[in-house]
Amino acid sequence: MNYSRIIGTGGYLPERRLTNTELETWVDTSDKWIVERTGIRTRYLANNDQDTCDLAEQAARRALEAARVDASELDLIILGTTTPDRIFPSTACLLQARLGNHGAMAFDVQAVCSGFLYALSIADKFIKTGTAQRALVVGADTYSRLVNWNDRSTCVLFGDGGGAVVLETSVSPGILSTHLHADGAYKDVLTVPGTVAQGRLNGDGFTKMQGNEVFKFAVNILKESVDETLAANQLDIKSIDWLIPHQANIRIITATAKKLNLPMEKVVVTVSEHGNTSAASVPLALDVAVRDGRIKPGNLLLLEAVGGGFTWGAILVKY
Ligand code: ACO
Repeated sequence: MNYSRIIGTGGYLPERRLTNTELETWVDTSDKWIVERTGIRTRYLANNDQDTCDLAEQAARRALEAARVDASELDLIILGTTTPDRIFPSTACLLQARLGNHGAMAFDVQAVCSGFLYALSIADKFIKTGTAQRALVVGADTYSRLVNWNDRSTCVLFGDGGGAVVLETSVSPGILSTHLHADGAYKDVLTVPGTVAQGRLNGDGFTKMQGNEVFKFAVNILKESVDETLAANQLDIKSIDWLIPHQANIRIITATAKKLNLPMEKVVVTVSEHGNTSAASVPLALDVAVRDGRIKPGNLLLLEAVGGGFTWGAILVKY
C-alpha cells in the first residue's frame, strides 16, 4: 500500500505586526479583554500590495526548500483559502505560475479554517491511489480583509499568513487517516454573506459571527473528531506526541485538550502570536514546531480544525 508522507514544511507571516496595544488606540477594546477571552496578543497583516498568493508563495518556497524538491517535480498543487486573489483562475494556478511549474493539477479548496485539512486529505487520496507522486499543499489567507475594523467582536481575532507542506508517495506512513465533515445547517453562525455579481459586491463583505455558538460547537466537535480518529486507528490519546489544533482561541484549545485529557505540553500553540490565520493556522503551527525541533521524525501528530460551514476534521500523521 502507498502512503503519502510529509517531507517538508514552510510558513510565512507578513512583516506588519499588529499588537493589542496598538489595536487599543483605534478599536474600542483592550489588551486585557483580548488576552483573557482569546489568548491573542499579536497578529500579522499583509501589506496593501500583498495578496494571498504572495503569502502562499513564500510558505511554498520554504516547504519546497526543506523537502529539497524543485517545483517542476510537483504533479499536484492544492491550496486552501477563503480569500483568493481573483474569482478565477484559482490561487493554486496563480501560485503554480509563480513557482514555474507547468502541467501539475492545481486547484483551490474552500473550507474556511478547515481548508488546509481538506486540502491535505484530498492530496493524500491522490497520492494513495497513485494518481500523484509529489504534492504541494498550502493553506493561505488574507483574512484580515474580511473583517470590519469597526466590529470589535471579530476584528481582534484574525491575522494573515501562509503555511505549506510537500507530500511524497512512500511505502511507509505517512498520513495514517483523515476524517472530514461538514454541516451546512450552520451556514449563518459564521459567514461572510456577500457575493460578487454584475461587477459589484452584493450584500455584506464582512465576517458575521455568533461567537458563543462558534465556541460551543468548536469545543465539542474537535473532541469528537479526535475521538473518531483515535478509534479508527485503535489508539489511545496517550499515543499522540503532538496535537496541532486550529488556532482560533486559546480557550477553545485548552477546553478541547481538557476534554481529551491531553496535557497542554503536548499541544502546539501559536494563537497568541499569530491570531487566527484561517486556513494557514494549522500548517503554520506545524511548521513552527518542526523548525524549533519539538516535532521529531516518527512522532505521531494529530491535526484538527473547525471552520465556517461548519466544516471540521482531523488527520493523523506519522511524521
Ligand atoms: N473588546 C472589548 N469588549 C468586547 C470585545 C472586544 N474586542 N468584543 C466583545 N466585547 C464585549 C461585548 O460587547 C460584550 O459586552 P456586553 O456584556 O456589555 O454586551 C462582552 O464583551 C462579552 O461579549 P461576548 O461575545 O459574550 O464575549 P465572549 O466571552 O463570548 O467572547 C469571543 C467573545 C472571544 C468572540 C468568543 O465567543 C469566542 O472566542 N468565540 C469563538 C469565535 C472564534 O474563535 N471565531 C474564530 C473564527 S471560527 C473558527 O476559526 C473556528
